[in-house]
Amino acid sequence: MTKVTVVGAGNVGATCANVLAFNKIADEVVMLDVKEGVAEGKAMDMLQTTQTLGFETKVVGVTNDYSKTAQSDVVVITSGIPRKPGMTREELIGTNANIVKSVAESLLKYSPNAIIVVISNPMDTMTYLTLKATGLPKNRVIGMGGALDSSRFKYYLSQALNVNPVQVDGTVIGGHGDTTMIPLKRLATYNGVAVSTILDADTLDKVVANTMVGGATLTGLLGTSAWYAPGAAGAYVVESIVRDYKRIIPSCVYLEGEYGQKDICIGVPAVLGRNGVEKIVDYQLNVEEKALFEKSAEAVRKTNDVLKEIKAL
Ligand code: 2OP
Repeated sequence: MTKVTVVGAGNVGATCANVLAFNKIADEVVMLDVKEGVAEGKAMDMLQTTQTLGFETKVVGVTNDYSKTAQSDVVVITSGIPRKPGMTREELIGTNANIVKSVAESLLKYSPNAIIVVISNPMDTMTYLTLKATGLPKNRVIGMGGALDSSRFKYYLSQALNVNPVQVDGTVIGGHGDTTMIPLKRLATYNGVAVSTILDADTLDKVVANTMVGGATLTGLLGTSAWYAPGAAGAYVVESIVRDYKRIIPSCVYLEGEYGQKDICIGVPAVLGRNGVEKIVDYQLNVEEKALFEKSAEAVRKTNDVLKEIKAL
C-alpha cells in the first residue's frame, strides 16, 4: 500500500494529486489544505472522474487534520502563496518560510519515515529550510524544481527543432530562479544527437533564455504561477521514488562537496528511488558551466541567509 500526501490543495497541489491518482502512482492520495472544504471538494471532484477515466485510487481531502496523513510514504509540500506577475520567487520567502516549516513538522509527527518533496517557493531555500528545521537525513528531502525546469527546456527545444518533445532530452541544474537556473545546452539531445549540432548558437541561446523565464512568462499570462507542469513534475518525482524507478532527475538536494558546494540545497542530477536521493550524479561540467553553477549557488545562498534574518532558522 503506497500512500502519498500533498499539502496545499491549490492549483499545483491539486494537479499533483490528480496526476498521482489518475496514473495510480499511489494507492491512496491525501490532500490537505488550510481552507475549509477546499481539499474535500477537490477530492470529491477527482473521485467523480474515477468511473469516467477508469482508476481506483483512494483520494481523501481534509482541512488541517494531519492525523489523516499518517503513515505516508512520501509527502509533497506545495503550501504558501504563489507569485504574482512581476514578482520573483525569492520575494515569497517571508510568507512561505514559516508556513513550510510548520507543515513539515506537522507531517513528520504522523509520518516519521516519509520522504519530503518540496515545491513551495523560493524552492531551493524552502528545501534547505525543511532539511535544517527537521534534521532529517539528506536523502529524505528533495526540492522539485529541476524536473519542471527541464520539462520546460525540452518543450522549448522541441519547438525550435519542430519535433515531438518526447524525442528530446535536456537537463536544467542550478537554482529554480529566473536568473539562477542553468539549462545545459551542451548536453541536450534529440534522439541521442547533440542539439548543438542541429540548432545554430543564437537559436539555442534563445531556447535557454525562454526556459529561464518559462515560469515568469506563464505568470504574466495567467496572473498567478503555473500549475499543470509544476504539478505533473511533482508527481514525476514521487513516481520515481515510490516505484523505485531510479530515474536521474535534476533535483534540489543537499550538497556536501559535490559540484564544489557545501551546506546548500540546489539542483543537480540525482538518482531518485525508494530511499529518496540515492546518488548524486557528476555530469563533469566544463569551465563555463562551473562558473554559472558557482554564481547560481551564490544567489541561492543569499536567499538562504534571509532565513536567519527572519528567524526562520
Ligand atoms: C513555476 O516555475 C511554480 O515555481 C513554479 O511555475
